[in-house]
Amino acid sequence: MSYLDMKKSLNHPIFQVVSDMVEADDLTAFAIGGYVRDIFLGRPSKDIDIVVLGSGIELAKRVAHKLNIKDIAVYKNFGTAMLHYKDVEVEFVGARRESYRSDSRKPVVENGTLEDDQKRRDFTINAMALCLNKKHYGELTDPFNGLKDLKNRTLRTPLDPQQTFSDDPLRMIRAVRFASQLNFRIGDKTYQAIVANAKRIQIVSNERIMDEVHKILLSPKPSVGLIHMEKTGLLKEFLPEVASLKGVEVREDFKHKDNFLHTAKVVDNVGKMSDKLWLRWAALLHDIGKPPTKRFSKEQGWTFHGHDYVGQKMVPEIFRRLRLPMNEKMKYVRKLVALHLRPIALVDEEVTDSAIRRLLFDAGSDVEDLMLLCEADITSKNDKKVRRYINNFRRVRKKMKEIEEKDRIRNFQPPIKGETIMNTFNIQPGKNVGIIKNAIKEAILDGKISNNYNEAYGFMLEKGKELGLTPVNNRDRQADTSESQE
Ligand code: CTP
Repeated sequence: MSYLDMKKSLNHPIFQVVSDMVEADDLTAFAIGGYVRDIFLGRPSKDIDIVVLGSGIELAKRVAHKLNIKDIAVYKNFGTAMLHYKDVEVEFVGARRESYRSDSRKPVVENGTLEDDQKRRDFTINAMALCLNKKHYGELTDPFNGLKDLKNRTLRTPLDPQQTFSDDPLRMIRAVRFASQLNFRIGDKTYQAIVANAKRIQIVSNERIMDEVHKILLSPKPSVGLIHMEKTGLLKEFLPEVASLKGVEVREDFKHKDNFLHTAKVVDNVGKMSDKLWLRWAALLHDIGKPPTKRFSKEQGWTFHGHDYVGQKMVPEIFRRLRLPMNEKMKYVRKLVALHLRPIALVDEEVTDSAIRRLLFDAGSDVEDLMLLCEADITSKNDKKVRRYINNFRRVRKKMKEIEEKDRIRNFQPPIKGETIMNTFNIQPGKNVGIIKNAIKEAILDGKISNNYNEAYGFMLEKGKELGLTPVNNRDRQADTSESQE
């Protein structure tokens, strides 16, 4: 990129305001970090970092005043201030020198030069600075050859990587994240330092680690990041359940596939079809029940019976430990892990309507995502086999559509309320109400009756009779169909 292009790229209105202000105040300021990197990469970026030789907080306050921005967050301890302007988040920081003591995550911070500030950054590609002062507007300061690394698509730390990673071990995962997001390689020394220091990731909070892991999962080819994390030893420090999927065991003539590489491929496959983060999480965790259920027998070779059941049981603990949301997101992932073999089972056997109805019922509104996960789960190298599975899945989908149109099972609501059962037989809330409600649901899923009020009502009377109950009230008998989805 030429100097002129660079000047043009620094075209966000905030830069003009800052430029005018530093000129008037006799300060020096630079755009630095990810925004500069992304200009060279031609990537859009919404975070601007500005480093000032002097007080970042003071400059931020004055810029905010000029632009009539009331909301400005000041972090005195870090010497930074942040504001939002138009579509971007702008962070101001005074150029500083940071040093960390080995026993503490709190840096000792002193004022520093631009180069001091660049040194303390994570990667050379994130340490480039563009001047904002009028005389040198758009001029690049790049003491660590970030531009060259950008061209060679390489991640390298400005200082000895031991130092950079010991200052903030999260940077090891950031290296993997950038490699995955940008399709960069990790430089040899930097890579070796990650391997040597992987254990130190333990002193970083799980929230920060997860922010990076989400970005890895959302990158164009998440397997790049996942495989780096496994190979460097980072993964086993915070997600041993996935790391232990790695490896192949051979006994007699039996060999099972490498379940970690398979998992990484499934995450990639899901990523090609959907950008949902939690679906990618489900893909990442779908086989975690395999290591604990792995068995060998001379007759069958390697088996992982019940890995779906065991795997889904492990999900809440993993979410809790990693500080992932323990709400419907966790339930969604758990459900997909639990059900991930069901559509495949439908493919192998002669598909009955009832099996499909049960899957629609169990998966509910997530059935489409489940089908995506299952298709992504086919990673066989045998093209013929893959095509056969995909065709069978198509058949299952078609059947699902027909049954759903007819029976509306996906968002199943009992067609007969407990209240109707109690009124009909003049009984109090209790066991029998539950038995009848469940029998109605089962009869619908088995296809014995259709999912509508009148058929369910008739079935309720039969079931009541079996339980020795007598209807005392037929008032609800003639209810019209609009009530059938109570
Ligand atoms: N930085 C660092 N060490 C970290 C985090 C950040 O040195 N652990 C520095 C880098 O220079 C980085 C800048 O702070 O470029 C801004 O950090 P951040 O906004 O987290 O990342 P970006 O590089 O902007 O990338 P992205 O926007 O993709 O997160």
